[in-house]
Amino acid sequence: MKPLTIAIDGPVGAGKSTISDAVAKRLGILHLDTGAMYRAVGLCAMERGIDPRDEEKVSELCVAGGARVDVRYDGGRQITLLNGRDVSREIRTQEAGQAASTVSRYAAVRRMMVRRQQELAAGQAMLLDGRDIGTVVLPDATLKIFLTASPEVRAKRRMLQLREKGDETPFEEILEEVNARDRQDMNRPLDPLRQAEDAVRIDASDMSFDAAVQAIIDQLEVRHDAE
Ligand code: DC
Repeated sequence: MKPLTIAIDGPVGAGKSTISDAVAKRLGILHLDTGAMYRAVGLCAMERGIDPRDEEKVSELCVAGGARVDVRYDGGRQITLLNGRDVSREIRTQEAGQAASTVSRYAAVRRMMVRRQQELAAGQAMLLDGRDIGTVVLPDATLKIFLTASPEVRAKRRMLQLREKGDETPFEEILEEVNARDRQDMNRPLDPLRQAEDAVRIDASDMSFDAAVQAIIDQLEVRHDAE
Protein backbone atom coordinates (compact mmCIF):
# COMPACT_ATOMS: atom_id res chain seq x y z
CA MET A 1 0.00 0.00 0.00
CA LYS A 2 1.21 3.53 -0.81
CA PRO A 3 2.40 5.36 2.35
CA LEU A 4 0.27 8.26 3.59
CA THR A 5 1.35 11.61 2.10
CA ILE A 6 -0.14 14.99 2.97
CA ALA A 7 0.56 18.12 0.94
CA ILE A 8 -0.06 21.50 2.57
CA ASP A 9 0.47 24.56 0.38
CA GLY A 10 -0.32 28.19 0.92
CA PRO A 11 0.99 31.74 1.11
CA VAL A 12 3.48 33.16 3.59
CA GLY A 13 2.20 33.68 7.12
CA ALA A 14 -0.87 31.43 6.94
CA GLY A 15 0.57 29.36 9.79
CA LYS A 16 1.52 26.45 7.51
CA SER A 17 4.67 25.41 9.37
CA THR A 18 3.30 25.37 12.90
CA ILE A 19 -0.06 23.89 11.87
CA SER A 20 1.72 21.25 9.75
CA ASP A 21 3.96 20.39 12.66
CA ALA A 22 0.98 19.83 14.95
CA VAL A 23 -0.91 17.74 12.36
CA ALA A 24 2.14 15.54 11.72
CA LYS A 25 2.64 15.04 15.47
CA ARG A 26 -1.01 14.05 15.96
CA LEU A 27 -0.67 11.51 13.14
CA GLY A 28 2.76 10.30 14.27
CA ILE A 29 4.41 11.03 10.90
CA LEU A 30 7.38 13.18 9.84
CA HIS A 31 6.91 16.77 8.68
CA LEU A 32 9.10 18.22 5.94
CA ASP A 33 9.13 22.03 5.85
CA THR A 34 10.26 22.54 2.24
CA GLY A 35 10.55 26.33 2.61
CA ALA A 36 13.48 25.65 4.97
CA MET A 37 15.34 24.03 2.08
CA TYR A 38 14.89 27.08 -0.20
CA ARG A 39 15.92 29.29 2.70
CA ALA A 40 19.15 27.28 3.03
CA VAL A 41 19.96 27.96 -0.65
CA GLY A 42 19.22 31.66 -0.12
CA LEU A 43 21.45 31.70 2.95
CA CYS A 44 24.22 29.95 1.05
CA ALA A 45 24.14 32.64 -1.67
CA MET A 46 24.20 35.42 0.94
CA GLU A 47 27.13 33.85 2.80
CA ARG A 48 29.14 33.59 -0.40
CA GLY A 49 28.47 37.20 -1.31
CA ILE A 50 26.28 36.19 -4.28
CA ASP A 51 23.31 38.44 -5.04
CA PRO A 52 20.22 36.19 -4.87
CA ARG A 53 18.96 37.99 -7.99
CA ASP A 54 21.94 36.66 -9.99
CA GLU A 55 20.37 33.54 -11.52
CA GLU A 56 23.54 32.42 -13.26
CA LYS A 57 25.71 32.48 -10.14
CA VAL A 58 23.06 30.92 -7.88
CA SER A 59 22.40 28.15 -10.43
CA GLU A 60 26.11 27.52 -10.81
CA LEU A 61 26.38 27.19 -7.04
CA CYS A 62 23.68 24.49 -7.06
CA VAL A 63 24.84 22.58 -10.11
CA ALA A 64 28.49 22.54 -8.96
CA GLY A 65 27.46 21.14 -5.56
CA GLY A 66 28.33 24.27 -3.58
CA ALA A 67 24.90 24.39 -1.94
CA ARG A 68 24.14 20.88 -0.74
CA VAL A 69 20.88 21.04 1.18
CA ASP A 70 19.64 18.14 3.21
CA VAL A 71 17.47 17.42 6.22
CA ARG A 72 17.66 14.93 9.03
CA TYR A 73 15.39 14.28 11.95
CA ASP A 74 16.25 14.44 15.62
CA GLY A 75 13.45 13.03 17.77
CA GLY A 76 10.98 13.88 15.00
CA ARG A 77 12.26 17.48 14.70
CA GLN A 78 13.60 18.65 11.33
CA ILE A 79 17.23 19.76 11.21
CA THR A 80 18.11 21.62 8.00
CA LEU A 81 21.65 21.13 6.78
CA LEU A 82 23.69 23.27 4.40
CA ASN A 83 26.84 21.49 3.27
CA GLY A 84 26.53 19.34 6.40
CA ARG A 85 26.15 22.32 8.78
CA ASP A 86 23.00 22.78 10.89
CA VAL A 87 21.46 26.08 9.71
CA SER A 88 17.99 25.57 11.22
CA ARG A 89 18.19 28.83 13.19
CA GLU A 90 20.06 31.02 10.71
CA ILE A 91 17.48 30.47 7.96
CA ARG A 92 14.69 32.02 10.06
CA THR A 93 15.57 35.66 9.34
CA GLN A 94 13.49 37.95 7.14
CA GLU A 95 16.50 38.31 4.77
CA ALA A 96 16.83 34.54 4.33
CA GLY A 97 13.06 34.37 3.62
CA GLN A 98 13.31 37.06 0.97
CA ALA A 99 16.43 35.45 -0.55
CA ALA A 100 14.58 32.09 -0.59
CA SER A 101 11.65 33.64 -2.43
CA THR A 102 14.08 35.05 -5.03
CA VAL A 103 16.23 31.92 -5.60
CA SER A 104 13.15 29.68 -5.68
CA ARG A 105 12.32 31.19 -9.10
CA TYR A 106 15.29 29.44 -10.74
CA ALA A 107 14.92 26.13 -12.59
CA ALA A 108 18.25 24.71 -11.34
CA VAL A 109 17.28 25.40 -7.74
CA ARG A 110 13.76 23.99 -8.09
CA ARG A 111 14.94 20.83 -9.85
CA MET A 112 17.42 20.11 -7.07
CA MET A 113 14.89 20.76 -4.28
CA VAL A 114 11.96 18.90 -5.85
CA ARG A 115 14.10 15.81 -6.49
CA ARG A 116 15.37 15.74 -2.90
CA GLN A 117 11.87 16.27 -1.50
CA GLN A 118 10.48 13.42 -3.59
CA GLU A 119 13.30 11.13 -2.43
CA LEU A 120 12.59 11.99 1.20
CA ALA A 121 8.85 11.35 0.82
CA ALA A 122 9.28 8.06 -1.04
CA GLY A 123 8.60 5.00 1.02
CA GLN A 124 7.54 6.64 4.28
CA ALA A 125 4.47 8.40 5.61
CA MET A 126 5.10 12.14 5.51
CA LEU A 127 3.51 15.58 5.56
CA LEU A 128 5.15 18.19 3.33
CA ASP A 129 4.39 21.89 3.43
CA GLY A 130 5.38 24.48 0.83
CA ARG A 131 4.07 26.17 -2.30
CA ASP A 132 4.15 23.46 -4.99
CA ILE A 133 3.71 20.24 -3.02
CA GLY A 134 0.22 19.34 -4.27
CA THR A 135 0.90 20.58 -7.80
CA VAL A 136 4.47 19.37 -8.48
CA VAL A 137 6.26 17.48 -5.69
CA LEU A 138 3.48 15.06 -4.71
CA PRO A 139 0.77 15.20 -7.39
CA ASP A 140 -0.62 11.89 -6.03
CA ALA A 141 -0.66 12.90 -2.35
CA THR A 142 -3.30 11.18 -0.21
CA LEU A 143 -4.62 14.57 0.93
CA LYS A 144 -3.95 18.07 -0.43
CA ILE A 145 -4.74 21.18 1.57
CA PHE A 146 -4.49 24.79 0.46
CA LEU A 147 -4.16 26.70 3.71
CA THR A 148 -4.68 30.42 3.50
CA ALA A 149 -5.72 33.52 5.45
CA SER A 150 -6.34 37.14 4.47
CA PRO A 151 -3.22 39.31 3.93
CA GLU A 152 -4.28 41.48 6.90
CA VAL A 153 -4.52 38.50 9.26
CA ARG A 154 -1.18 37.15 8.05
CA ALA A 155 0.49 40.55 8.45
CA LYS A 156 -0.97 40.92 11.95
CA ARG A 157 0.45 37.52 12.97
CA ARG A 158 3.82 38.53 11.59
CA MET A 159 3.63 41.82 13.47
CA LEU A 160 2.99 40.03 16.79
CA GLN A 161 6.00 37.76 16.17
CA LEU A 162 8.18 40.80 15.44
CA ARG A 163 6.92 42.71 18.50
CA GLU A 164 7.95 39.77 20.70
CA LYS A 165 11.47 40.27 19.40
CA GLY A 166 11.25 44.01 20.08
CA ASP A 167 10.88 44.86 16.38
CA GLU A 168 8.60 47.88 15.87
CA THR A 169 8.21 47.74 12.07
CA PRO A 170 4.89 49.51 11.27
CA PHE A 171 1.89 47.35 10.30
CA GLU A 172 1.57 48.98 6.86
CA GLU A 173 5.14 48.03 6.01
CA ILE A 174 4.62 44.42 7.13
CA LEU A 175 1.41 44.22 5.08
CA GLU A 176 3.26 45.49 2.02
CA GLU A 177 5.96 42.81 2.55
CA VAL A 178 3.29 40.09 2.77
CA ASN A 179 1.65 41.35 -0.44
CA ALA A 180 5.02 41.61 -2.20
CA ARG A 181 5.93 38.03 -1.26
CA ASP A 182 2.52 36.80 -2.49
CA ARG A 183 3.05 38.55 -5.82
CA GLN A 184 6.53 37.06 -6.16
CA ASP A 185 5.46 33.49 -5.23
CA MET A 186 2.24 33.52 -7.31
CA ASN A 187 3.55 35.17 -10.45
CA ARG A 188 6.80 33.34 -11.05
CA PRO A 189 6.76 31.33 -14.28
CA LEU A 190 8.04 28.07 -12.70
CA ASP A 191 5.76 26.14 -10.32
CA PRO A 192 3.97 29.22 -8.96
CA LEU A 193 1.96 29.06 -5.77
CA ARG A 194 -1.55 27.99 -6.75
CA GLN A 195 -4.21 25.71 -5.39
CA ALA A 196 -4.16 22.21 -6.90
CA GLU A 197 -7.50 21.29 -8.49
CA ASP A 198 -8.03 18.46 -6.03
CA ALA A 199 -6.89 20.41 -2.94
CA VAL A 200 -9.24 21.33 -0.10
CA ARG A 201 -9.12 25.06 0.64
CA ILE A 202 -9.02 26.04 4.30
CA ASP A 203 -9.22 29.73 5.13
CA ALA A 204 -7.83 30.05 8.64
CA SER A 205 -8.48 33.83 8.96
CA ASP A 206 -11.09 33.33 11.68
CA MET A 207 -9.89 29.99 13.02
CA SER A 208 -7.95 29.25 16.15
CA PHE A 209 -4.75 27.24 15.79
CA ASP A 210 -6.40 24.11 17.22
CA ALA A 211 -9.41 24.49 14.93
CA ALA A 212 -7.16 24.67 11.85
CA VAL A 213 -5.28 21.53 12.95
CA GLN A 214 -8.56 19.72 13.53
CA ALA A 215 -9.97 20.85 10.16
CA ILE A 216 -7.07 19.12 8.40
CA ILE A 217 -7.38 15.93 10.46
CA ASP A 218 -11.12 15.92 9.68
CA GLN A 219 -10.37 16.08 5.96
CA LEU A 220 -8.14 13.06 6.27
CA GLU A 221 -10.98 11.17 7.92
CA VAL A 222 -13.36 12.24 5.14
CA ARG A 223 -10.87 10.81 2.59
CA HIS A 224 -10.52 7.65 4.58
CA ASP A 225 -14.28 7.11 4.84
CA ALA A 226 -14.67 7.71 1.10
CA GLU A 227 -12.21 4.92 0.26
O1 DC B 1 7.55 28.92 3.61
P1 DC B 1 8.75 29.84 3.66
O2 DC B 1 8.40 31.28 3.89
O3 DC B 1 9.82 29.35 4.59
O4 DC B 1 9.38 29.74 2.17
C1 DC B 1 10.39 30.60 1.73
C2 DC B 1 10.30 30.80 0.21
O5 DC B 1 10.65 29.58 -0.45
C3 DC B 1 8.93 31.17 -0.32
O6 DC B 1 8.78 32.56 -0.42
C4 DC B 1 8.87 30.52 -1.68
C5 DC B 1 9.86 29.41 -1.63
N1 DC B 1 9.26 28.08 -1.60
C6 DC B 1 8.95 27.49 -2.81
O7 DC B 1 9.15 28.11 -3.85
N2 DC B 1 8.49 26.22 -2.85
C7 DC B 1 8.25 25.54 -1.72
N3 DC B 1 7.79 24.28 -1.81
C8 DC B 1 8.53 26.13 -0.47
C9 DC B 1 9.01 27.42 -0.43
